[in-house]
Amino acid sequence: MLVHIKTLVKNAQKGGYAIGAFNVTNLESILAVAQAAVKANSPAIIQVSEAAIKYMGLKPITHMVSTVAKNVAVDVPIALHLDHGSSFDSVFECINAGFSSVHIDASSLPLDENINLTKQVIRVAHAKHVWVQGEVGAIAGSHGDITSKLESIPLAKLEEVVKFAKETGVDTIAAAVGTAHGIHVNESIVFKLLKAIKEQVKIPFVLHGASGVDDAKIKRAIKEGVSIINIGTDLKVAFCRTLMKECLNNKKETDPRTLLKPTIGAMEKVVVAKMELFGSTGKAGIHETH
Ligand code: G3H
Ligand code: ZN
Repeated sequence: MLVHIKTLVKNAQKGGYAIGAFNVTNLESILAVAQAAVKANSPAIIQVSEAAIKYMGLKPITHMVSTVAKNVAVDVPIALHLDHGSSFDSVFECINAGFSSVHIDASSLPLDENINLTKQVIRVAHAKHVWVQGEVGAIAGSHGDITSKLESIPLAKLEEVVKFAKETGVDTIAAAVGTAHGIHVNESIVFKLLKAIKEQVKIPFVLHGASGVDDAKIKRAIKEGVSIINIGTDLKVAFCRTLMKECLNNKKETDPRTLLKPTIGAMEKVVVAKMELFGSTGKAGIHETH
């Protein structure tokens, strides 16, 4: 079923677990997340980037996610979220399309400009009961990059995170705490910073760039109060590796479905394992919040 993200997050906060926010890139990955949610009896966030919207179109992706949520994930809750929206126009379109949550990522701008743009988004989003995620201290790396050790992984400044949360009134907050987009040997979580943010900023924290981070660190981050954990690259890798293998092993195949079907199973397996790690397995029973 398709639900508002706030229902999932409030239940997760009460239950002491985190919700996986999985980046989808095509129908196969949408099906994989929904099937995993059913198998694990777990809530899930399906999130799309602007690149995914450019690839599939906003209406097709919105309808695909909501149809799959209603017809495949019949008894488990799924929320639809925009990941790393870069402009007012882009988040505005997703708000109007029916997303229950949008991320305005103005973290590369000076703090005051980030605050101003985030506040503008909040005004229109909240009028339509849509949640807004803000970001401070741009998260390093890039989605899908598995090739490099990053030269540096900049961290957010605690005082900026506190000021941003207070002045904007965002519903959820992301900040650079040592992880990076993609899979990199030198990414980690700076627990001192995460702990300090959690002590001073009471809204739900979103951990970006979680592919490539040790399971033990993810578990500890959930204990520190992380509510949403973003996974993108792990799904891209599972899809591409499986598809490449299928193509190499079946060079004469002419039915795309024969080659693509195993990718759904491979991504589903990754998502089921993440749900177990995040503690959301078996937590599909939702309690509506208003
Ligand atoms: O916004 C998306 C996530 O932060 C994904 O990061 O590709 O390292 O899993 P990841
Ligand atoms: Zn991210």
